[in-house]
Amino acid sequence: MDSSETSKLMTAKLKKGFFISLEGIEGTGKTTQARLLSERLIEEGYEVILTQEPGGTVIGNRIREILLHVDHREMSYMAELLLYNAARAQHLSEKILPALNQGKVVITDRFTDSTVAYQGYGRGIDIQLIMSINDIATEGIKPHLTILFDLDVETGLQRNKGINKVDRLELEDIEFHKKVREGYLKIAEAETGRIKIVDASLSFEIVAQKVWEIVRWRLEK
Ligand code: TMP
Repeated sequence: MDSSETSKLMTAKLKKGFFISLEGIEGTGKTTQARLLSERLIEEGYEVILTQEPGGTVIGNRIREILLHVDHREMSYMAELLLYNAARAQHLSEKILPALNQGKVVITDRFTDSTVAYQGYGRGIDIQLIMSINDIATEGIKPHLTILFDLDVETGLQRNKGINKVDRLELEDIEFHKKVREGYLKIAEAETGRIKIVDASLSFEIVAQKVWEIVRWRLEK
């Protein structure tokens, strides 16, 4: 089976609800955009669950603390990959799937593309291996729609400094974040049906408008 057939099969498993993931490097404003999108969908009468990775559940948040703690710099790349996916397996079974089965719209701030971009393109772990592990954690479930907020790395890291947010991944050097951004663009190029790119350098109102146009178009389809 080629990757587009696999992807069709996986999306077909999600008969109800609508699953959106938001992706991007640090400082793109995607967390604000997730909130704005959720508010807009609620205004339009949708039932919405807004969540994030790593996290979204009590167990997931504990794993998040381990993953992002600045004291854990000795964490091996494989431990990191498996912990992101452990949090994801819990997130999927406890929160995402039940909400989708109830016909809700689920918006997650990061999902499997983050692992391919950060652990794959950033850390250099084999991409096929990551995709296999992601598939185990997600039971092959993929978002119906992914919005990739694209921004140059310098601007992103600068914006994040402004809000005093530092975690273990953000301590990586600029070259790491550049590889992650390039990785995201390659992932998007390979899956143009699912992933739509939005220029995150624009004002947050314009970005929100663009996001809404994409989501509305996709929900009407
Ligand atoms: P954030 O939720 O504040 O964006 O922080 C999560 C950090 O974890 C961010 O630096 C991206 C990173 N990350 C990965 O490296 N791999 C993953 O699979 C996920 C979900 C996040």
